[in-house]
Amino acid sequence: MPEAWLPPDVGHGIALRPWRSDDLDALVAHANDEQVSRGTSDRFPYPYTREDGIAFLAGRVVDLSAPVFAVTLEGRAVGGIGVRMFTGERGIGAEFGYWLGRRHWGRGVMTNVVAAFAPWAVHTLELQRLQATVLDFNHASARVLEKNGFSEEGVLRRAVMKRGTVHDLRMFARLCVD
Ligand SMILES: CC(C)(COP(=O)(O)OP(=O)(O)OC[C@H]1O[C@@H](n2cnc3c(N)ncnc32)[C@H](O)[C@@H]1OP(=O)(O)O)[C@@H](O)C(=O)NCCC(=O)NCCS
Repeated sequence: MPEAWLPPDVGHGIALRPWRSDDLDALVAHANDEQVSRGTSDRFPYPYTREDGIAFLAGRVVDLSAPVFAVTLEGRAVGGIGVRMFTGERGIGAEFGYWLGRRHWGRGVMTNVVAAFAPWAVHTLELQRLQATVLDFNHASARVLEKNGFSEEGVLRRAVMKRGTVHDLRMFARLCVD
């Protein structure tokens, strides 16, 4: 695998690039939001402290040698997107996830990011399958995937405990034959 991934162009004033240590202030400002973290994995905590940001930017939370990019507007980090390859006999597939600072929601930013990132990931990582899982209440995320050609394959019932409540997890995928 390449040491540094060259991210796809997004357009619309949006760019992807590797995370940098000087993204810390922007990262914490956008990530420290209960509304953002409620849709994500618990690896993305709330409150999101400077220590959490430092650990992430140092590669101690997710593997930053994988394709994991900051989403930027005018060069400033406002969110993130990343993909994790499966291994062994499942190594033909991968899962990706994304988030965006709340002040930028609802303007098509993540729809445009995923439109560029998903085909790039399938091609670059030679995937048969790119999947994403969405908590049952997260209709905005499901919409982003549907608008980008992901199909809902099923529901993992009562799969996640988030803040004291049990949730279903919706499985979406896009296949290389799509
Ligand atoms: C999910 C998230 C990335 C979406 O980013 P975004 O840039 O606001 O998304 P977009 O503007 O591109 O598209 C959102 C779509 O969802 C729709 N939507 C938003 N809220 C909705 C709701 N409550 N119910 C139904 N649809 C909703 C929007 O109308 C839009 O669809 P449309 O273009 O058909 O009108 C953002 O809300 C976020 O970061 N959430 C917290 C983290 C998270 O949940 N990450 C995903 C984990 S799977």
